[in-house]
This record gives sequence, structure tokens and C-alpha cells, in this order.
Amino acid sequence: MRILFIGDIVGRPGRKIIEIKLREIVHEHAIDFVIANAENAAGGSGLTRDAYASLMKSGVHAITMGDHVYRKSDIVNILESCNNIVRPANFPASAPGKSVAIVETLLGTQIAILTVLGRTFMRPVDCPFGAVDRVLDSLDPTIRVIVVDMHAEATSDKQLMARHLDGRVTAVLGTHTHVPTADEQILSGGTAMICDVGMTGPHESIIGRRVDRVMHTTLHFVPTAFLVASDDVRLNGAIVDCDPTTGRAHAIRRLRVDLDPLDHAEH
Ligand SMILES: [Fe+2]
Ligand SMILES: [Fe+2]
Repeated sequence: MRILFIGDIVGRPGRKIIEIKLREIVHEHAIDFVIANAENAAGGSGLTRDAYASLMKSGVHAITMGDHVYRKSDIVNILESCNNIVRPANFPASAPGKSVAIVETLLGTQIAILTVLGRTFMRPVDCPFGAVDRVLDSLDPTIRVIVVDMHAEATSDKQLMARHLDGRVTAVLGTHTHVPTADEQILSGGTAMICDVGMTGPHESIIGRRVDRVMHTTLHFVPTAFLVASDDVRLNGAIVDCDPTTGRAHAIRRLRVDLDPLDHAEH
């Protein structure tokens, strides 16, 4: 079974490359299931109903979120009513949305998807390691394919999470920094890991936002609107191959697809 995991989709350019390229990628790489982190998919921060619907229409099967999960309030309804989208599992129990999504593939395999926030250079949240353990304990043991999005700043935290879960989940895939790392590997227990799969959006930017705006605020301390950038749009992700009966991963590779500027203009 082959899973594509797509890194943080940023704004309209991020949604556009998904819309234009995802079907082709799925076909070319024989992908069975598509998961995407969409915490920045609407206006660069948060997700709306319309953006959710557009990602579903483009072929995304399940969505993870991150620290920006509630930036657009109209997603709360989707978080509570849809079974294929998760908020961070280490939020308070009362926080809207689900800690784990269980989605069945077209071939009948059940996949559990969850995300947790790191605690280094991020706002205080519950322990991500304990939160994942609680979710795993709650799962039906027949569910073997489990994908964890570790949404965190620190690569060391992501390495720790992968080791913590080695042999218990299919993959621990990092998001949040918007910059891909080149450390993809299969751990000894059969868990695929990478510290960060990178961002799906405009790369002529500061993690997706216009360089001039971020630069001005950084140099002069004057707040500006950090508008979503537009150029050099790329899709970044990872492809994980696993055995659906055991959940063990046997391959992971990075995927980068660039949007041809002419494609962009046409749509
Ligand atoms: Fe984030
Ligand atoms: Fe992000």
C-alpha cells in the first residue's frame, strides 16, 4: 500500500498546485491514499469549509492540522462533523475536533491518522508523547496502518517521537517548519520517519509569506500584513510504502513537484 503525505498547504497557490497536479501524481506513482497537512491552506493560516471542499475534490483523502487549526472559525463545524480531519491530539479534550481520524481506503484497509504539536518554541500544550500513547491505546487493534503527523519546530523532538513510536505506527512524518529535511529513513521496528516533509506553496517567500513584508517587519519592528507569496510554487511531501496487514513501512522517499508558471497562469 502506498501513502502520499503532503506538507503544509499554504494559501491559494498551495491549493492550486494540489488542484492541478495531484491526480497526475496519484496516477504516476500509483498512490492508494493521500493525506495532507492543511493548517495554512486558507489565506496562509487556518482552513475554511470551501478550502476543505476544494482539497477533497482534488483527491485528498484525509487532513491533518496544526497550531493554526482554529484561525478560520468556520472550520470548527467540519472538524466536528467530518471523520477525515484531525486537530492536534495534545489539545484539551474539550477543544473542538477529533484526536484521531479513521478512514477506510478504496481497498478496504483502515488507516488511523493523527497529529500532535511539539513543545519546543511553541505554545504550551499537553505532552505529545503521552497524547499519542493514549490515542494508540484507544484504537481497535485490527487497525495496523497508522500515520502520525509530528507538527513541531525541533528536529530532535521529531526524532524522539519517531523512536518512541517505532514498531507501533507506520510513519512519523514531520510538518510545521515548511522546510523539508533529507533524513527520511525506515527505523528498525518498521516505522518510516522524516523530520519535515516541507511546504506545498510559494517558495519565493519566507515560509510561504511575502519576503518584503516579513523583511520590513523584522528590520523595523513595524507590523505589516504577512501576505501569502505567489512565485515558485512547489508541492513537497513523502511517499511511504507499507504492508497493510502489519502496518510496517518498507520504503519512504521524498516527493517534490514544481508548478510550471504557465500551468499557474492558465488556471
Ligand atoms: Fe504550524
Ligand atoms: Fe504550517
